[in-house]
Amino acid sequence: MKCLSSYFTVVTAISLFFSFTPSSADTHEKFVQCLYNYSHNTNSISNVVYTQTNSSYSSVLDLTIQNLRFSNSSLKPHVIVTPLQISHIQTTIICSQRHGLQIRTRSGGHDYEGLSYVAGVPFVILDLLNLRQITVDAENQTAWVQSGATLGELYYSISQKSKTLGFPAGVCATVGIGGHFSGGGYGFLMRKYGLAADNILDAHIIDVNGNLLDRKAMGEDLFWAIRGGGGASFGVIVAWKIKLVPVPSTVTVFRLERTLEENATEIIQKWQLVANKLDERIMIRMDMARVNSSQHGKLTIQASFVSMFLGGVEELIPLMRKSFPELGLVRKDCNETSWIGSVVFMNAGLIGSTGNEAPEVLLNRTQIRSGKYKGKSDYVRKPIPIDGLRGLWRLLYDDKIEYGQLQFAPYGGRMSDISESEIPFSHRSGYINHIHYVVVWGEEGNEATQRHMDWIRRLYKYMEPYVSSSPRAAYINYRDLDVGVNNNNGYTNYTQASIWGFKYFNNNFKRLARVKTKVDPHNFFRNEQSIPTLQKEEKY
Ligand SMILES: Cc1cc2nc3c(=O)[nH]c(=O)nc-3n(C[C@H](O)[C@H](O)[C@H](O)COP(=O)(O)OP(=O)(O)OC[C@H]3O[C@@H](n4cnc5c(N)ncnc54)[C@H](O)[C@@H]3O)c2cc1C
Ligand SMILES: *[C@@H]1O[C@H](CO)[C@@H](O)[C@H](O)[C@H]1NC(C)=O
Ligand SMILES: *[C@@H]1O[C@H](CO)[C@@H](O)[C@H](O)[C@H]1NC(C)=O
Ligand SMILES: *[C@@H]1O[C@H](CO)[C@@H](O)[C@H](O)[C@H]1NC(C)=O
Ligand SMILES: *[C@@H]1O[C@H](CO)[C@@H](O)[C@H](O)[C@H]1NC(C)=O
Ligand SMILES: *[C@@H]1O[C@H](CO)[C@@H](O)[C@H](O)[C@H]1NC(C)=O
Ligand SMILES: *[C@@H]1O[C@H](CO)[C@@H](O)[C@H](O)[C@H]1NC(C)=O
Ligand SMILES: *[C@@H]1O[C@H](CO)[C@@H](O)[C@H](O)[C@H]1NC(C)=O
Ligand SMILES: *[C@@H]1O[C@H](CO)[C@@H](O)[C@H](O)[C@H]1NC(C)=O
Ligand SMILES: *[C@@H]1O[C@H](CO)[C@@H](O)[C@H](O)[C@H]1NC(C)=O
Repeated sequence: MKCLSSYFTVVTAISLFFSFTPSSADTHEKFVQCLYNYSHNTNSISNVVYTQTNSSYSSVLDLTIQNLRFSNSSLKPHVIVTPLQISHIQTTIICSQRHGLQIRTRSGGHDYEGLSYVAGVPFVILDLLNLRQITVDAENQTAWVQSGATLGELYYSISQKSKTLGFPAGVCATVGIGGHFSGGGYGFLMRKYGLAADNILDAHIIDVNGNLLDRKAMGEDLFWAIRGGGGASFGVIVAWKIKLVPVPSTVTVFRLERTLEENATEIIQKWQLVANKLDERIMIRMDMARVNSSQHGKLTIQASFVSMFLGGVEELIPLMRKSFPELGLVRKDCNETSWIGSVVFMNAGLIGSTGNEAPEVLLNRTQIRSGKYKGKSDYVRKPIPIDGLRGLWRLLYDDKIEYGQLQFAPYGGRMSDISESEIPFSHRSGYINHIHYVVVWGEEGNEATQRHMDWIRRLYKYMEPYVSSSPRAAYINYRDLDVGVNNNNGYTNYTQASIWGFKYFNNNFKRLARVKTKVDPHNFFRNEQSIPTLQKEEKY
């Protein structure tokens, strides 16, 4: 891909001279006309524009709405554009500005708060689902991946080229590259190799002027910002060049479940002490939820220990016996497989399948619709004491809640080696683990929604004494509008935005705002939690 096509320099020049504001309901018709006007015959945009009257509009809109809490939203886009090529994106950016429409870019549609497809202002969805090309260069251990591809497609493509290369990113196969990489992205290789965003070598972004820029052309500040600062504030990232990482041909996975009756308390306490100190080739995630115990026929709390080890079972068992005997791991709990087999196994935990199906399952984009959900996150510096755990269980026992879960991901290893300012994701050394909270429900209606939202907010409040503070750190990829939002239609000033900005990025928030001010001074790319531009008096 070339940087900066001459054709679009012309369009850019035009857009700079006219700054339109929307005045009438025919805004979107003018917008569509603008798209057509700037579209060449050879790259016709007319096949990728869905207005509300198009019979496919709803199915295209719904296709990747992952959180059904927003499936009913009345805040729908005026137009959906599903670009097939760079020029379609450039035209959409230019015409949206001219005709007063906001852009929401959607890659995989997994945003927890639906920000990639719901907005309270007139807007266009730029849906990258057709831009999903993946080119793996096994010899050089790199790959180019377009933002509209899914993690499953990326992992599958890597495995088709090499059995000993992998990539450290998230667990769920349907997550989109665009949102995931730009927000961080962690999974079972995190202790060994860090985040997806820690392993990016280059990127192609289209900026507010419609210019296509690679790393060299965008400069190191912007390249820094899009690796963890969230992509939506800065432009549209089309593709990423990533560094693949070595994985052994045999890895070992297990999932062990222990209820309170099976000594879960003791095992959880030990996990909190050791999980971040184990050999960095071992990642043991701990999930906690209420279950109906088949043995005891009553409700209890169950901890699941879900793990991948970069090596064979013969090496894993003695390591575990030495450091974590309380778990009681034995050979028959373990499965040796390839790295891609481990990806299928972990993804299966999410979609409730057996975990030993063929890797092609990773290509299925419609494998789960989790229902309606609300998520939150926390970072932990020291083990939660026993009294704290007991209070947690009381909350989990609440039977008015369909499903509530805490997932603990251990830190240590590479996560603690990388400096806080290396990329915008600042949550590094000093933390022993990360918590993901989620509540999921299927029941219809506002009352049910309110009940589940109230519950997770109560849980979050309850956890306050046990987690990081000042700021209480949060993960942008588990987007949570409760931690603070921009007001004034996204034109919040820096001071106000710091309320949520420091939680996601800590001291990196300042640099993000400086980059934002430089690359998008009029704050075109904005949403409820976009990085603000600095006012004159705020610059430093
Ligand atoms: C079921 C499920 C499992 C998950 N598992 C993990 C996990 O294991 N590890 C983890 O780290 N996270 C996980 N996440 C969180 C996930 O990383 C984020 O939700 C991520 O932002 C989703 O990316 P997306 O492209 O699918 O989402 P989208 O909703 O398409 O986008 C998310 C945000 O990024 C912006 N954006 C998207 N594409 C672009 C682009 N090309 N250019 C600029 N901005 C863009 C959107 O506008 C929006 O603000 C999970 C989420 C879900 C729902
Ligand atoms: C599109 O082009 C036509 C013909 O040149 C012009 O009349 C019209 O104003 C243009 N519309 C937009 C929205 O740019
Ligand atoms: C809907 O939009 C698509 C994509 O632009 C187009 O191919 C199709 O003809 C449109 N259908 C109708 C009924 O307008
Ligand atoms: C690996 O990189 C080198 C140098 O950039 C390049 O010449 C070579 O073609 C690449 N290998 C493959 C298989 O693309
Ligand atoms: C629980 O711990 C006790 C004492 O340490 C032990 O005797 C018992 O076997 C353990 N139970 C399970 C299910 O591991
Ligand atoms: C738990 O399971 C038992 C036995 O299967 C059943 O009798 C009981 O109703 C279940 N309890 C709940 C709360 O689902
Ligand atoms: C794990 O191995 C056992 C045999 O030891 C097999 O029955 C099971 O299907 C395997 N599970 C997975 C997920 O591969
Ligand atoms: C994808 O998964 C869903 C849910 O399991 C299934 O119904 C569908 O048939 C699968 N699609 C393909 C192409 O395998
Ligand atoms: C969707 O909207 C209808 C009507 O407003 C409502 O009855 C229903 O509960 C909503 N569904 C969801 C999933 O929120
Ligand atoms: C930012 O906004 C807040 C609240 O509106 C206001 O009190 C403050 O003065 C503003 N700061 C600047 C620098 O404009």
